Amino acid sequence: MAKSLLPIFLSLLITASASASASDWNILSQRSKNGLKISLKNYCESWRLNVELHNIRFFQVVPEECVSYIGKYVTSTQYKVDSERTIEECIVYLSKGCELKGDGTDAWIFDIDDTLISTVPYYKKNQYGGKKLNLTDLEAWMSKANAPILGHTLRLFNLLKARGVDIILISARREGLRSATIENLVQVGYHGWTNLILRSPEDEKKGVEQYKADVRRRLVNGGYHIWGIVGDQYSSIQGSPSGRRTFKLPNPMYYVY
Ligand SMILES: *[C@@H]1O[C@H](CO)[C@@H](O)[C@H](O)[C@H]1NC(C)=O
Repeated sequence: MAKSLLPIFLSLLITASASASASDWNILSQRSKNGLKISLKNYCESWRLNVELHNIRFFQVVPEECVSYIGKYVTSTQYKVDSERTIEECIVYLSKGCELKGDGTDAWIFDIDDTLISTVPYYKKNQYGGKKLNLTDLEAWMSKANAPILGHTLRLFNLLKARGVDIILISARREGLRSATIENLVQVGYHGWTNLILRSPEDEKKGVEQYKADVRRRLVNGGYHIWGIVGDQYSSIQGSPSGRRTFKLPNPMYYVY
């Protein structure tokens, strides 16, 4: 059933990315060839799931007809539960699957945005990703250092610190945001990381995935064991070298690569 529906989804996605409008939706509200009726919620939930499965890639905006659904999701209890579950799995791995060296070479990597702190308040004002990113605007918001905490990640952060693991923050944020980033992180309760790595003008010439992989290469060459990476983007966990394990937090609002 799912397989034979694929052409419909694909043509819808193409329609959506070309010129999405609520009226495009009506095609689907009718019975499909297979007699399967799907709702807008079915469609958007499937869009979100396939973003998280990394089947849908390089999207520039959330499809217009799903903006309301995505907005509801990222402000829902479900989003919190999903994120907490990710962190819970990190903690299980840390306590059962991780044989830390304990000699100062243990490392764990975190993203910043939508991993340690949340950009949802910014995206709330920008159609939850339904509007094409304006970097000037986003950086102006980041420079205010008001991003709220994702509290479940702080729990893992503190646990790692207590276990003597060096915490390395690697973000696609640019160097110019360093002091605002530190201020924001400290204000909400993060402190004691080992290194905060932001993008230099040189790094901006390469894609985010390459930039992050290059940073990890330097860490590994320097003797670090990267036990885990937690991020909300595939560009934070793909590329070589990676971590021994990687954990993907939900984020259906934007795609960084
Ligand atoms: C981005 O936002 C800034 C500040 O709000 C605005 O001046 C600029 O025109 C916007 N750029 C685009 C491409 O929309």
